[in-house]
Amino acid sequence: MTADPRPRRTFAVISHPDAGKSTLTEALALHAAVIQEAGAVHGKAGRKGTVSDWMEMERARGISITSAALQFEHRGTVVNLVDTPGHADFSEDTYRVLSAVDSAVMLVDAAKGLEPQTLKLFRVCAQRGLPVLTVVNKWDRPGLDPFELLDQVEQQIGLKPTPLTWPVGAAGDFHGVLDRRDGHFVRFTRTAGGATRAPEEHLTPEQAEAAVGDDWVEALEGHELLSADDADHDQASYLAGRTTPVIFASALQNFGVGQLLDLLLDVAPAPGPTPAVDGGVREPGDDFSAFVFKVQSGLDAQHRDRLAYARVCSGRFERGMVVTHAATGRPFATKYAQTVFGRDRTVVETAEPGDVIGLVNAAALKVGDTVYAGKPVRYPPITSFAPEHFATATVADTGRWKSFRRGIEQLDEEGVVQVLRSEWRGEQAPVLAAVGPMQFEVVAARLESEFRAPVRLERLGYELARTVRPDQAEEVAGLRGVEVLARRDGTLLALFPDEWRLRFVQRDHPHLELTALPAGG
Ligand code: G4P
Repeated sequence: MTADPRPRRTFAVISHPDAGKSTLTEALALHAAVIQEAGAVHGKAGRKGTVSDWMEMERARGISITSAALQFEHRGTVVNLVDTPGHADFSEDTYRVLSAVDSAVMLVDAAKGLEPQTLKLFRVCAQRGLPVLTVVNKWDRPGLDPFELLDQVEQQIGLKPTPLTWPVGAAGDFHGVLDRRDGHFVRFTRTAGGATRAPEEHLTPEQAEAAVGDDWVEALEGHELLSADDADHDQASYLAGRTTPVIFASALQNFGVGQLLDLLLDVAPAPGPTPAVDGGVREPGDDFSAFVFKVQSGLDAQHRDRLAYARVCSGRFERGMVVTHAATGRPFATKYAQTVFGRDRTVVETAEPGDVIGLVNAAALKVGDTVYAGKPVRYPPITSFAPEHFATATVADTGRWKSFRRGIEQLDEEGVVQVLRSEWRGEQAPVLAAVGPMQFEVVAARLESEFRAPVRLERLGYELARTVRPDQAEEVAGLRGVEVLARRDGTLLALFPDEWRLRFVQRDHPHLELTALPAGG
């Protein structure tokens, strides 16, 4: 079999719920030739397409809890859009997806500007050094002034915005955009529901002025102001995470979507070398390797299978190849690799660096694990994020205690939730720590359906966690309102009821080292 020579772009969309991520995803798929579609992309009830059916809860709510990937081709490049679960509730999965991509698209609602969840996700991107493209969406309806939006981006996330297009006409009275790269007017024509491919028409500046008059002149002024402020795209600064190119779009009306695809091909980074734990790197052209960024169980109640989603980091994946599981040194047969999940499962034959594969029967694979062929390699584990929600779990029927313990253990290993323990709490009532409260519901549902161990969850009044030095743990645990517990990896976490209590402790006990965990905290 010959290697697939097409270049790759692997990215995720970060946004706050309702900014238009599902709409954009559909619009992107419409523009491009969809190659493979992983089940969970169209997560909203009533939408066309495929809602994965792995859990009743998911179906009942019409949301997608699972992460999957959509693969399509644009101008000869294979684009992988890795889905971030799209619900108001956050989970660690949302963060982990960002370890599987090479860049991010930050989707901002023109009327709402930067919102909390976008900011949280942006912080993870910044930590991981992911370059970010910004799309201001919903420009077809009233919104903020474009300069105000740029200010928000610069002030709140610290990236200098470098608009590649500039709106002609205010939000809600949108004629199109000025393409700052060639000075042309990209005219926007409204279509019914944006159902067709991008209605974009390119006009010269003269034609533009004749067509929209003052709005064009104003856009030109905006463009000049930006240039005077040095807000022009610079590839090196974008890749280094200092600037963010910005475009103005209407996903619903299909405007700017083609521009975004072009931009991804023109400026977003291709899969590059992946750093390994030993300090070396694996180049895309080296032997096969991949790392698991998401594990999903209970997809199919009858078969109890476990699917590990892995991003190919190097080499070519061919179905049937036997790879080595770096954590155990054991061989792992990839007879059943697939890219499509949910109802329709399509077997994947080959995959290249940047692609996402689903490995079936992956009971041994955990989040953060590496699999490889040829020369051994091991990638660093995925960071555990700062939990903000805490609850104790106890088994409802003491006769099911053993199953409960096994279930908690497994869900901890899968990374569904972080399990914290302390002598004081005892084995009977571990503390579950989550980035988003929906993780608790997933735990409860899975303990009941897969382990037949219904649980009682009791929310605890903590809001933040800090790591504690082992030699200071006792002192911290003795403080009023603070509790210290251990994570599976041995890290000690102190839980605080709120920011005030934490500041109080820091002020009165400056010698205590209380370190924030990555993101969300
Ligand atoms: P999400 O996945 O980020 O949560 O957002 P989603 O795409 O579901 O979009 C949220 C709402 O915003 C939807 O309206 C959608 O139609 C609308 N929307 C998305 N992009 C645009 C845009 O460019 N312009 C305008 N005007 N609206 C946009 P809804 O009424 O909440 O849902 P629906 O009933 O239309 O699906």
